[in-house]
Amino acid sequence: SGAPAGTLRLGPDAAGVAEAAALLRAGALVAFPTETVYGLGADAGEPAAVAGIYAAKERPRFNPLIAHLPDLAAARREGAFGPAALRLAEAFWPGPLTLVVPAAEGGRICDLARAGLPSVALRVPAGGLAHALLAATGRPVAAPSANRSGRVSPTQAAHVLGDLDGRIAAILDGGPCPVGVESTIVACLAGGPALLRPGGVAREAIEAVLGGRLAALATAPEAPVAPGLLASHYAPRARVRLDAEAVAPGEAVLLFGAARPAGIEAAGACLDLSPAGDAVEAAANLFSHLRRLDASGAATIAVVPIPPAGLGEAIRDRLQRAAAPRPGGPAPP
Ligand code: TXA
Ligand code: MG
Repeated sequence: SGAPAGTLRLGPDAAGVAEAAALLRAGALVAFPTETVYGLGADAGEPAAVAGIYAAKERPRFNPLIAHLPDLAAARREGAFGPAALRLAEAFWPGPLTLVVPAAEGGRICDLARAGLPSVALRVPAGGLAHALLAATGRPVAAPSANRSGRVSPTQAAHVLGDLDGRIAAILDGGPCPVGVESTIVACLAGGPALLRPGGVAREAIEAVLGGRLAALATAPEAPVAPGLLASHYAPRARVRLDAEAVAPGEAVLLFGAARPAGIEAAGACLDLSPAGDAVEAAANLFSHLRRLDASGAATIAVVPIPPAGLGEAIRDRLQRAAAPRPGGPAPP
């Protein structure tokens, strides 16, 4: 056993998909693109394969993973869909929405992938390549984001290889991910739908389909704690400073829209998430811009205020995690 010597690069054609599916069916780890971010996939029914995900990512705890499926029919073999879950699946699948529902009896997803919970997180991603891979694999595929634990999520194949080259069997390269932030997670358990993580589907769109407000995690005591949602996460090396109205000399700056903070002339590297102030475009650029500003070597990345509407909620959530105190103390200089 041990890490594979080299990671196989597979192209986005029929041969690449067939090879990736064969590797997944054999219990290997394969990174693949979804419309949100690249996932690190393994057969969700094979505990040894799922354990390999935690090892490759150096994920310290067994957080529950999202299982990816080609369509709603396959998802219904793994989870029990009540009326609200069904309405959301029909409205947003395939797409960047994950539903946490009671695990179905006789489902294939193993305990380790569910971290022992009686519920299961299911997602039908959009995007032809992900769909082709899931259909060819014919099994639920567990996949967290394909980064080392605590690092920024990958939206390009090069990001994945930077973190995981040599630790995973293969990567299916489908180019950049169009949405750029992870899926929205909604729990549909007892007590009504609750938002566990903002993401690629805006809260407003979900509430429009449900005809009512989504409960927040804090006000949904029946909702399970999603461990991956709490600690510092998505952390670049640099310190991250939010809602900056002014920047210090040498600070890297993450801009949004046309506004320019005071002191910008003396700043270091500057990138704009969306010069037009469009939250959808900003989400698509978020993680790659963070990586590029981090690579500039600046000690701090100052982020201008970002409005919370639409995908702004998910962008602000990821930036707050990037700015949170690190488990190992402050980021190294
Ligand atoms: O867009 C995405 O969702 C990406 C792509 C690859 O699909 N995947 C992703 O997975 O972001 P990951 O593992 O980074 O995030 C999964 C989140 C974690 O915060 C986990 O705690 C939560 O889903 N989760 C999984 N199963 C759960 C469950 N049964 N109850 C509550 N939370 C759950
Ligand atoms: Mg992640």
